[in-house]
Amino acid sequence: MRIAGPSQPFAATGRRDQWWMAPAFTLIGLITFFGYLTLRAFNPKYVWSEPYISPAVAPPVFTSATAFPGGVPVDHAWFGSFPSWWPSCVPQTPALILPALAIAFRATCYYYRGAYYKAAGMTPPSCAVRGISRRYRGETTLLLFQNLHRYTLYGALVLLVSLWWEGLSAFFLHGRFGVGVGSMIMVINAALLTGYTFGCHSWRHLIGGRYDCFSCDGRVGATYRAWSLSSWLNARHMAFAWCSLVWVAFTDLYIYLVASGAIRDLNTWG
Ligand code: FES
Repeated sequence: MRIAGPSQPFAATGRRDQWWMAPAFTLIGLITFFGYLTLRAFNPKYVWSEPYISPAVAPPVFTSATAFPGGVPVDHAWFGSFPSWWPSCVPQTPALILPALAIAFRATCYYYRGAYYKAAGMTPPSCAVRGISRRYRGETTLLLFQNLHRYTLYGALVLLVSLWWEGLSAFFLHGRFGVGVGSMIMVINAALLTGYTFGCHSWRHLIGGRYDCFSCDGRVGATYRAWSLSSWLNARHMAFAWCSLVWVAFTDLYIYLVASGAIRDLNTWG
């Protein structure tokens, strides 16, 4: 394949396929779903309909009983109401504390980096296509923050445990077991996020990728199996990234519609 040289104009390429479709759809998807979740993070109305809680605000470290209609009740937040020292210029939304870690985790994800470098940065927009003319500097200067990914992973693991807890708790209303459409949606959300998190490159490295040999030090058993599973998920990381992102937004939307009374949740509680 002929590669576009540095003197050629933007988007010059010898490719004859529809190379622009992937970055275009990626850009539309990123703007749509990250935009929706950002709006919900700053305006989290109707995020609670017992026993359901939106992943946009879960886990709630603090909550405000009055800042937004349909907010998380004070007794469901880890530390109750927002403290008096909370700056008045910052919205009292639970999304700005732990759930924000999920944004940091995704924003620094190796897959998403490649996606938004191509789709939004056009550096270049696709393989063998001339990008916006600028000198390539790699992930230096401001982009050094991408190195935080291995640390945001730990926050994502805490979030995952919390989302499984919330998902399984959604099968109990006032201590009574039951099944609702919302319960199923929340558990699928936790499962997809599990697939996304355990296919993470940093996780794969952490649990086995850093070893040169699995049999040299007696680690063949559980470590190798965990690494193999992570490798399987890693090969499907893009699919899990999109499915989990879409499902987080869908879960939030469903709970919004139920909490606001726009639709009725089908469940066994009656
Ligand atoms: Fe995508 Fe870590 S590389 S979540």
